[in-house]
Amino acid sequence: MSASELDTLKAELLEAVAAASDLASLEEVRVGALGKKGRVSALMQRLGSMPPEERRDFGQAVNAVKMAVSDALEAKRETLARAATTAKLAAERADVTLPVREGPLAEGRVHPVSQVTDEITEIFADMGFSIAEGPDIETDFNNFTALNIPPEHPARQDHDTFYFAEGPDGTRPVLRTHTSPVQIRTMLNNKPPLRIIAPGRVYRCDSDQTHTPMFHQVEGLVIDNEAHLGHLKWVLEEFCKAFFEVPEVKMRFRASHFPFTEPSMEVDIGYAKVGDEIRIGEGDQWLEILGCGMVHPNVLTAVQLDPKKYQGFAFGVGIDRLTMLKYGAPDLRAFFSGDLRWLKHYGFAPLAVPTLAGGLS
Ligand code: PHE
Repeated sequence: MSASELDTLKAELLEAVAAASDLASLEEVRVGALGKKGRVSALMQRLGSMPPEERRDFGQAVNAVKMAVSDALEAKRETLARAATTAKLAAERADVTLPVREGPLAEGRVHPVSQVTDEITEIFADMGFSIAEGPDIETDFNNFTALNIPPEHPARQDHDTFYFAEGPDGTRPVLRTHTSPVQIRTMLNNKPPLRIIAPGRVYRCDSDQTHTPMFHQVEGLVIDNEAHLGHLKWVLEEFCKAFFEVPEVKMRFRASHFPFTEPSMEVDIGYAKVGDEIRIGEGDQWLEILGCGMVHPNVLTAVQLDPKKYQGFAFGVGIDRLTMLKYGAPDLRAFFSGDLRWLKHYGFAPLAVPTLAGGLS
């Protein structure tokens, strides 16, 4: 093949590259030129049967064609790929500044308990807590024994527990009666320092105007070498102020008893009822909202943490109670009756996500 024939081949191939209108036809051009049976590859194979004095020059010339074609292919491939992306972006364009379309979506409501859970999560996340989770069906060990409530302990009776049938190990799984078993899971699976909250459903066999068999708690746990009661009080005070969106809250820490904390306290917050409205931080009425205390050494021992080295605090807040207080819903049973009229009245717009910066509620 003469030099001018080679030039013609090169020109033809470059033209084909330029003419390719999409990635598939470009690939066809590539295979036709540089593929195993491609035209350039065929010339390369001829080199072997040439006299050595011709081979060098011809080899260089074919190689130059090969380079030119593969450069052109690569450049064209990039152009086509970019064009494909641009076309896709244009086709999928969405105006995110448009308001939500009126229709089924505008009807939807976020349940107040979900809203409050998001608010609580936002506040604690801002204080450096991360979120932990555990299952609704718990082992007897996690729900009771590891929390310093051994089988014969009277506190088991207070919990109105829903039990499952006995398992192969002779213990009965339970619907967790509180979120405290997440403390155990967290300490068994992570090394201190720990700073978590764990919101979720809990179950007790109980039902009247202020009790439902399923309700919500958020557990808090801080474990390190020095966390003390002062820290606990500060965290809870900051939480209450942020949650109720008031500069001051009246809080009362009452000595109490939980098997898994020592000392233990229950916390009431002060409020006034003015007509139908509840005002937090005023007046002389008290409502209990949470239990808390310093994690009991027996609990630390149960999860193989040395109580001489580690200490910390825990708290358990009733989410539904907080919701009733903040948003003035009087009957707890209505929370879970699935009444759409109730949800329309007390629910939240789906896209109004609570943030500390943008306002919680
Ligand atoms: N688990 C307790 C309850 O359900 C609340 C609590 C949590 C108390 C953590 C102390 C520490 O009543």
